[in-house]
Amino acid sequence: MNANAQCPTQLLPKETYYDPAWLDRERRELFDQSWLYACTEAMVPNPGDYHVCNLMGQSLFVVRDSGGSLRAFHNLCRHRGCEVLEGTGNAGQSIRCPYHRWTYGLEGHLRAVPNERECFDALPREGLGLLPASAGAYRGLVFVNPSPSPKDDFSAWIANLDDHGWPHRFDDGSLEFVGESVYEIKCNWKVFYENAIDGYHLGYLHDKTLGQLYPSRNLWELVGRNHVWYSTEREGPPQASPKLIADGAKGHGARMIEGQTEEAFYPGVVMLFPLTTLSPNPYGFSVSTLEPVHSELTNLRVHTWAPPRPGDGRRSDGNGAKSKADKRGSYILRSEQPVRLADLDGHPLESGNFQLEDMWIVEKVQRNLHSPHFQVGPMAQGAGAETPLAEFQRQVLNFVPLPG
Ligand code: FES
Ligand SMILES: [Fe+2]
Repeated sequence: MNANAQCPTQLLPKETYYDPAWLDRERRELFDQSWLYACTEAMVPNPGDYHVCNLMGQSLFVVRDSGGSLRAFHNLCRHRGCEVLEGTGNAGQSIRCPYHRWTYGLEGHLRAVPNERECFDALPREGLGLLPASAGAYRGLVFVNPSPSPKDDFSAWIANLDDHGWPHRFDDGSLEFVGESVYEIKCNWKVFYENAIDGYHLGYLHDKTLGQLYPSRNLWELVGRNHVWYSTEREGPPQASPKLIADGAKGHGARMIEGQTEEAFYPGVVMLFPLTTLSPNPYGFSVSTLEPVHSELTNLRVHTWAPPRPGDGRRSDGNGAKSKADKRGSYILRSEQPVRLADLDGHPLESGNFQLEDMWIVEKVQRNLHSPHFQVGPMAQGAGAETPLAEFQRQVLNFVPLPG
């Protein structure tokens, strides 16, 4: 038998990693049907509270309606297309477009039009409500989907994660919002995603930052369309944090979230297909979203929470202003400016930051995709190796099938 018979194989042609026409198809056929992190529930607790998010090149907002339910709409006035809301806030009992003041109810219907009789005669209001999107909440995190009737309804998409839940809360003061960082990465979003679920590289590329996470010492488990990651370096149940990170955190006196232990059973990374990454750990929580800017440029936006510092007095609901660089989660780089490899002083491998190590590698792969000699060879089998890459590619093809 061929020794490679079990090896996962590359399913996506290389052009799908740089062809702008393929990204256009992904925008229409995948992203326009996909769930993506928007905000925490604690950011929109009361009727009228809203949060605007720019996702996949579209402006959408989440709003708490008068009955207390979360709704999502396209941030697009039905008159002449102006964005109706901006930022985060409370709209009161209605949503008013700033341009000509068409006014919508919190449930999206068109309520009032200035000078309606003189200017429009009889306006068919029923067909002129805000365009609905979809919203769902899970463990205090709010997700939106641009489609009003997505291919996966929210509960189907998030299904089974209950067996891999994490204990973090965003509404009880145990975590406070620390800040947001943006990484500008010169690669296709799929090159980044595949690197993120590749357990084979961890013990080698990241030996200085993540330690000895060889294929037998970590695993990616497929949960629906999503993947969850555990470290299996230690005796006992799989754990959220790599041993090197946990030892480093203790060494630096990092504060653990109240009530948590290092041994707790939950995943250290949750890749929510296709664009959201959650990273729960005993010292904090981060949510990252991928923004495909074009077929070879992707922004990674990282939102981070950590236990409040004693006497800190800041709010813990995610509304906090951007903070300056903060050492509490030292393995996550924080910066007010977008992070670009070209702006680094030293070599990424000397940075002590695994995110920069990954950036360096994915940009190297992206450049070579254009070589006529580029070809993917045998990939390493196993849930702690490269099997997840084939599973991911199958999900992409499920939404965006190859022609013919
Ligand atoms: S564009 Fe919104 S009222 Fe005119
Ligand atoms: Fe990596």
